[in-house]
Amino acid sequence: TTQYNYILTSRPEPSVVLITLNRPKALNALSSPLFQELNQALEEADKDDTVGAMVLTGSEKAFAAGADIKEMKDKQFADVYKNKFLEDWAKITQLRKPIIAAVSGYALGGGCELALMCDIILASPTAKFGQPEINLGVIPGGGGSQRLALTVGKSRAMEMVLTGRTVSAQEAEKWGMVSRVVGEGEGEVVREAVAVAKEIASKSQIAVQAGKEVVNAAYELTLAEGLRFERRIFHGLFATNDQKEGMAAFAEKRKANFTHS
Ligand code: CAA
Repeated sequence: TTQYNYILTSRPEPSVVLITLNRPKALNALSSPLFQELNQALEEADKDDTVGAMVLTGSEKAFAAGADIKEMKDKQFADVYKNKFLEDWAKITQLRKPIIAAVSGYALGGGCELALMCDIILASPTAKFGQPEINLGVIPGGGGSQRLALTVGKSRAMEMVLTGRTVSAQEAEKWGMVSRVVGEGEGEVVREAVAVAKEIASKSQIAVQAGKEVVNAAYELTLAEGLRFERRIFHGLFATNDQKEGMAAFAEKRKANFTHS
């Protein structure tokens, strides 16, 4: 397996890849080299047929405290524009398999945006979400303004982006930013995220990918287009062995044995 400097990868379950951001001294600030490694590890997992889902986490203190401010501070407009600074972050949203963010501690700026790019967010009670870029004289650049507006609505997104206020795990749950806050205790949120990933990995990979694709379409298409897209993808699944197996298993009162075909 590839050796990384800023992330750790492991297989807590045969079907699950766990990626841990590992720049503790900088609270997992998302430098360009870190992001390159993250993209590489995620793309490898996405291509690996034995992997059903990925989990992304940080440390107890910080999921990630944002883009690397020290790396950014002297950049000029011409650099960031010509080199499409942060454009490669969006690769995460092109992956076919689900990614679950397990967030403890700070998820600020790019850290919050990274969590929002994942498919499911589970939060530890210690999680703190925020877009503090306004305090640095800038605005979110990793999709935060758009994804927050879609997720929590205009007033809350405006408050977060314009004041930089940090939102607690409980508030984030109430606002629908995270699917749930899990129990206290070190590692609890990661264990729970791995359990969710394992559960997803036990399904038909084709159906899971289709499910991810259609839910994501809700953020891009009109309702009529989205409903039509969903139905067409649903129809397409009748061409898979997994549909035959899943429905036969139900009728025969046995557990389905999906072959991802
Ligand atoms: N970039 C670079 N280094 C960072 C960092 C960041 N985003 N966040 C923390 N660090 C570094 C600190 O500089 C410090 O390094 P040194 O020990 O070398 O001084 C180390 O991590 C530990 O941080 P603190 O001493 O500040 O720890 P703390 O517990 O006192 O405070 C914190 C924690 C409130 C999260 C604070 O570190 C902080 O405010 N960090 C910056 C948060 C931020 O503004 N994020 C947005 C970045 S911009 C962005 O993300 C743009 C975008 O949209 C993509």
